[in-house]
Amino acid sequence: MRVLSGIQPSGSLHLGNYFGMMKKMIEYQEQEELFCFIANYHAMTSVADGKVLAKGTLEAAANFLALGMDPQKSTFWVQSDLPEVQELSWFLSNFTPMGLLERCHSYKDKVARGIHANHGLFAYPVLMSADILLFQSEKVPVGKDQKQHVEVTRDIALKVNNTYGELFTIPEPEVDDNVATVPGLDGQKMSKSYGNTIDLFLEEKALRKQVMRIVTDPTPVEAPKDPDACNVFQIYRLFLDKAAEEALRRRYLAGGLGYGEVKGELFETVRDFFAPYAERRAELLADPEGLRAVLATGADKARQVALKTLGRVRKKAGLIY
Ligand code: TYM
Repeated sequence: MRVLSGIQPSGSLHLGNYFGMMKKMIEYQEQEELFCFIANYHAMTSVADGKVLAKGTLEAAANFLALGMDPQKSTFWVQSDLPEVQELSWFLSNFTPMGLLERCHSYKDKVARGIHANHGLFAYPVLMSADILLFQSEKVPVGKDQKQHVEVTRDIALKVNNTYGELFTIPEPEVDDNVATVPGLDGQKMSKSYGNTIDLFLEEKALRKQVMRIVTDPTPVEAPKDPDACNVFQIYRLFLDKAAEEALRRRYLAGGLGYGEVKGELFETVRDFFAPYAERRAELLADPEGLRAVLATGADKARQVALKTLGRVRKKAGLIY
């Protein structure tokens, strides 16, 4: 089965990205035909500093590779190394009703938060559809916030197929209930734009600071506590197997567990979980030329698949005359 997903290099990657998408993608490469890319065109909707975007792109790639993305097994590239996706995006725009984009939560939320909407933000789901359809993807693992965009992709693809015959595979979103929305420090969805993240590969001091900022209620140490209402527990459980999660739950319910203590344990858990990958990440970042070469090879692999779809589209659309 062909599985595809992407991630934006707009700032540091965080635990929401890791548990919502990266972990699953890394696991999938063992059984499935995996396509994974760094969505730097999409990041342009929030980053308008070229140096920052370029640096973020290399860092996101290094993080993903260090955590286990294997460019031998999978196709791993940077979105803008395959500008062909923009051509498909334009084609798809002509099958995208305005109302479909106007209904997108992610767009509406941003507008509601006072972000000045421009055409890039509005058309974001069309470009995402192009990413997915260019590769005839069957399954798209994402966090809950992106599910609607995959549904938009399905609508657009069906419209095209109704007009031109079977051009595109209709993709399925895949959202894992357990990690559909990883909560941030304040209990809202963990997101760069909310400033409530725990980032991957932080220095100890900065990591401890983020963990200590997790919002808790004023229940005294001795009192029993509700793990399901606790932001620390909700983040901690991501790192635990069933038995360890149950054990922690019992400690909450028994009373005598202070939030400071459990935050300290969470800090150590996060640090120790990512520590084994830090060296590889540093090596990758110390050799940007080598990293670019890996990504260029990935883009070449991706292009071979993309051009098959694009060739058929161009023909159907009448661009080959
Ligand atoms: P991005 O970079 O915003 O997010 C990358 C992935 O991380 C997931 N995610 C979360 N999952 C659970 N809890 C959270 N708090 C959390 N925060 C982020 C996102 O759902 C996403 O799966 N538009 C995409 C990038 C993209 C893409 C694509 C994805 C561009 N083209 C084509 C799939 C297919 C995005 O939101 O990236």
